[in-house]
Amino acid sequence: MTPEEFRRAGYAVVDWIADYWATLPQRPVTSQDPPGTVAAGLSAGPPARGEPVEAVLADLDKLVAPGLTHWQHPGFFGYFPANTSGPSVLGDLVSAGLGVQGMLWATGPACTELETVLLDWLADLLDLPARFRSTGRGGGVIQDSASSATLVATLVALHRAAGGRWRQAGVDRRYRVYASTEAHSSVEKAARIAGLGAEGVRLIEVDPATRAMSPAALRAAIEADRAAGLVPALVVATVGTTSTTAVDPLPELGPICAEHGVFLHVDAAYAGAAAVCPELRFGHAGLEYADSYCFDPHKWLLTGFDCDAFWVADAGELVEALTVLPEYLRNAATESGAVIDYRDWQVPLGRRFRALKLWFVLRWYGVEGLREHIRGGVALAAGFADRVRADERFELVADHPYALVCFRLRGPDGPNERLLAAVNATGRIYLTHTRVAGRHTLRLAVGAPQTTQAHVDEAWQLISHTATTLSPPPSRRS
Ligand SMILES: Cc1ncc(COP(=O)(O)O)c(C=O)c1O
Repeated sequence: MTPEEFRRAGYAVVDWIADYWATLPQRPVTSQDPPGTVAAGLSAGPPARGEPVEAVLADLDKLVAPGLTHWQHPGFFGYFPANTSGPSVLGDLVSAGLGVQGMLWATGPACTELETVLLDWLADLLDLPARFRSTGRGGGVIQDSASSATLVATLVALHRAAGGRWRQAGVDRRYRVYASTEAHSSVEKAARIAGLGAEGVRLIEVDPATRAMSPAALRAAIEADRAAGLVPALVVATVGTTSTTAVDPLPELGPICAEHGVFLHVDAAYAGAAAVCPELRFGHAGLEYADSYCFDPHKWLLTGFDCDAFWVADAGELVEALTVLPEYLRNAATESGAVIDYRDWQVPLGRRFRALKLWFVLRWYGVEGLREHIRGGVALAAGFADRVRADERFELVADHPYALVCFRLRGPDGPNERLLAAVNATGRIYLTHTRVAGRHTLRLAVGAPQTTQAHVDEAWQLISHTATTLSPPPSRRS
């Protein structure tokens, strides 16, 4: 493809994406086709001769788009949002066009330096503790996901627990990781990958009302493990749990970690983005105790997947835990000690120029634009929660400090399961569920970029009407 051919095809692809976004509201949020439909529509193998991009775009329309769950749809309220935006796509396009591999400073100096500066910008934007800034011993890096951030934090924590000898000594089955019963499954996965096995993870009970980790239970577990000769290595606290956006109490958990020399990682994958708004920083109280922290701009900050922002308070410790320097990567800049080589801050060697999409997003929206996006979502969710509260058939199952509302029909699970299936079957909205204290609970997460008051109103009307259809009020005559 020559640059001129690329220019023409590229305009066609950008047009396709713009048309896709413009027509999202007319599409069903989820695919209406049975499993295997997309696979059956594809040709048996690649074409013998090359085809024009128009042929691929036609198949995108015919085969791929109908087989998608449309995460950017204004009626998408499932899981947590996975925002993207025009500036994010354009930044990613530039990254793809440059094709830079930023494993070392020397393999793309701007790739590294832009990332370092942007992570400092973000740290300022979220008002993170000074210890995470690259101007001191700390610093930030972009990981592909919060799961990877948790894995990296686990590896550094094990390195620390082993007195800096983990690199040589490897896994010691006595190490223990602590997280609440509401923590994300990536904590257990990271422990497994790190070789600790499921028995290496202690799930700490939560306060039944707030769903937040109980400091007393954490202390008891750490003390019992120490008494048994085990080695508490890592506590993963969550700001904004996946089920209900509960916030673990860092001001109480932090001192326990400090007292016992346990590494504290804070996972704010979803809720961290809210801290761009000063009034939504309550979850970060006590963050000064944390050794590492992460949030996903790819969830709620208009930056397309994949982009997790991860900070550590001691970059030297992180590099010590992960670095391996083969001869073929040696270079003068690394040896000077004056540069960051981000390959030492992550699991893979290679890395994309992800900072570009973040840079495009930050510059396009500015601080105020990002705050508007977050505040808009929080206000829409609060309005929805008011509707639920005002309808005596329903109950709110948890607080809604951010833009997730957890609710259910009062009574048994069955009608809730049927309600969820029925509203999703309409294709007009999409919700997902969780279990809170064992009870089937519906989750409505606001955050898709095109979602407005009208879409949230429509969601409520659909939910309310469907609940009536499933369980009509008793007839007056009977
Ligand atoms: C609290 C929390 N941590 C981690 C994750 C995993 O995120 P990622 O897909 O970036 O690994 C999620 C996903 O929803 C989450 O809610």
